[in-house]
Amino acid sequence: MEVVIVPDAAAGGELVATAMADLLGRKPDALLGVATGSTPLPVYRALAARVRAGEADVSRARICQLDEYVGLPAGHPESYRSVVLREVVEPLGLSPDSFMGPDGGAEDVPAACAAYDRALAEAGGVDLQLLGIGTDGHIGFNEPCSSLASRTRIKTLTEQTRQDNARFFDGIDDVPHHVITQGIGTILEARHLVLLATGEAKAEAVALAVEGPVAAVVPASALQLHPHATVVVDEAAASRLKLAGYFRATYAAKPSWQGL
Ligand code: PGA
Repeated sequence: MEVVIVPDAAAGGELVATAMADLLGRKPDALLGVATGSTPLPVYRALAARVRAGEADVSRARICQLDEYVGLPAGHPESYRSVVLREVVEPLGLSPDSFMGPDGGAEDVPAACAAYDRALAEAGGVDLQLLGIGTDGHIGFNEPCSSLASRTRIKTLTEQTRQDNARFFDGIDDVPHHVITQGIGTILEARHLVLLATGEAKAEAVALAVEGPVAAVVPASALQLHPHATVVVDEAAASRLKLAGYFRATYAAKPSWQGL
């Protein structure tokens, strides 16, 4: 696992946008797995700015969703389908056809979950999966004690996650209890995992995920099992890392041709 400590959220956004643009340079139809929430927004803004400046070609990129609320009315502005279309697909100038996600409105939720896992495999697998981290250590919506081998499935959100996400709704009562999320086993099949975390509120979860044991109680610790996992953190999110000095020195000495 590589840990990169950046000065702030904007620098993290630029760094991850560079990794995405470089990937699309090598593989123009790469499948990019995107995350929702506040943390990844600087990535999408930085990538869209490069497209506008003619510095990145994303015209053949494909986008896929990590997770989705269950039961929100179709077209709800906070469904993750709506969020990804608004924050990623439209600003990058892509068509909705380039985008796939699980069906949070399906009558048969288990069938929709299995269909999404199949669709990801049939699309050739995710090339780069961007992840946030919950204050409880979740990735996607894999809450603590999710199986490290889990596939896409329905999960029940913790009270803490519903509180954290209440800011996107009129109040906590409007936050759905149920979600569909790529499983940890599904996420680990992506070729490159990039976890981005910013702010002091994430420092404890980041330290447990990076320097603690691999444990289902901290789902993000599963990144330790992946051969190409990158954790990008700002100074505040890095503040509890015991090995911060080592991570800084390693990144400073990294050959520039290597990229993330
Ligand atoms: P946030 O969400 O970026 O809005 O903090 C992260 C997550 O829950 O994965």
